[in-house]
Amino acid sequence: MKKTIRDVDVKGKRVLVRCDFNVPMQEGRITDDNRIQAALPTIRYLLDHGARVILMSHLGRPKGEAKSEFSLEPVAVRLSQLLEKDVQFRSCPTVVCDTIKEMADSLKDGEVMLLENVRFRKEETDNDPEFARSLASLGELFVQEAFGTAHRAHASTAGVADYLPAVSGFLIEKEVKFLGGALEDPERPFVAIMGGAKVGDKIPVIENLLKKVDTLIIGGGMAYTFFRSMGFTIGTSILDEGNIDLAGKLLKKAEEAGVKLLLPVDVVCADRFENDARTLITDRENIPDDMMGMDIGPKTVELYTEALKTAGTIVWNGPMGVFEMPAFAKGTKAVAEALAESDAVTVIGGGDSAAAVEQFGLADKMSHISTGGGASLEFLEGKTLPGIAVIEDK
Ligand code: 3PG
Repeated sequence: MKKTIRDVDVKGKRVLVRCDFNVPMQEGRITDDNRIQAALPTIRYLLDHGARVILMSHLGRPKGEAKSEFSLEPVAVRLSQLLEKDVQFRSCPTVVCDTIKEMADSLKDGEVMLLENVRFRKEETDNDPEFARSLASLGELFVQEAFGTAHRAHASTAGVADYLPAVSGFLIEKEVKFLGGALEDPERPFVAIMGGAKVGDKIPVIENLLKKVDTLIIGGGMAYTFFRSMGFTIGTSILDEGNIDLAGKLLKKAEEAGVKLLLPVDVVCADRFENDARTLITDRENIPDDMMGMDIGPKTVELYTEALKTAGTIVWNGPMGVFEMPAFAKGTKAVAEALAESDAVTVIGGGDSAAAVEQFGLADKMSHISTGGGASLEFLEGKTLPGIAVIEDK
């Protein structure tokens, strides 16, 4: 068990909190503030308990340069609105400078400031010890709250813990509870649903899950690589050419492990990668040469939703089809609805499946939606995430 902010006295302390405020932006406007919202319980707890809160985060990949389009200023503004409190912010190109030190030193109990994008310094991604030390010098306690970046061993996510005691915030605690709980002690039957375009990206996750799950459901673009390994033709569907053999090996592994592996039995094909393309629903053996699979078909929807009905735990990562196009969103929507109706513990990996659940307005029906894309995948692979490893044990 990792220490959390509940296990330490934060009153009057300068508390340095690493958040993941890497939010999508369009022309300087935040288009989705979920990641900011997700950090609010921790920030509010710290403020209510008299801490002096210094927040830090990255935004995008400015590659060690202070570029104004990657400034965290819009996040400070949004955060102020959400907290109904001033969030002090100065855009310091070196992230830590005399002005920032003075601001941190003169914070009063219950006040909060936000540092500039830590990736304005190349030393951040290099996990440079001197940069980590200068960040640490601002605070007396480090709180890890950036689950989405916990798979990166950077100065602000890992290095800083060499100089300060490190505990977790509530978001990290929740992510580990749901993702870790699913892997270590799932309510059974445990069903994992894997989708997305490439098998290659998901191999380590599938391999780890085959040791844990009762049923593995495969959908999305990666299904066509499995079809090829089974000897079917797949028309112009997406193919992860280099991983056809591996897909075959995974099928064998599933059989050896006694895991029920479900693949689509029918697909919705299109003659072009367009929403208004000509479509055809066909069994998986009969995909025409000039068409591509874009979604799972109705028989597959029935098969998958039936398998989900009795599940005790469901982990979902990756859509069933090109859900961004309404004509090919049915499969992903049906799976999302099956999860929403299920009594199982439902855990959604970040990225596309999280976006799908949001798009269908079903987010509040899930037990947990991870704020980490890459991080949740690495967690499900069974890897130790550096940003979590640095948190002290109880
Ligand atoms: C994410 O959006 O997945 C995290 O914020 C990590 O960002 P990165 O891939 O640029 O490290």
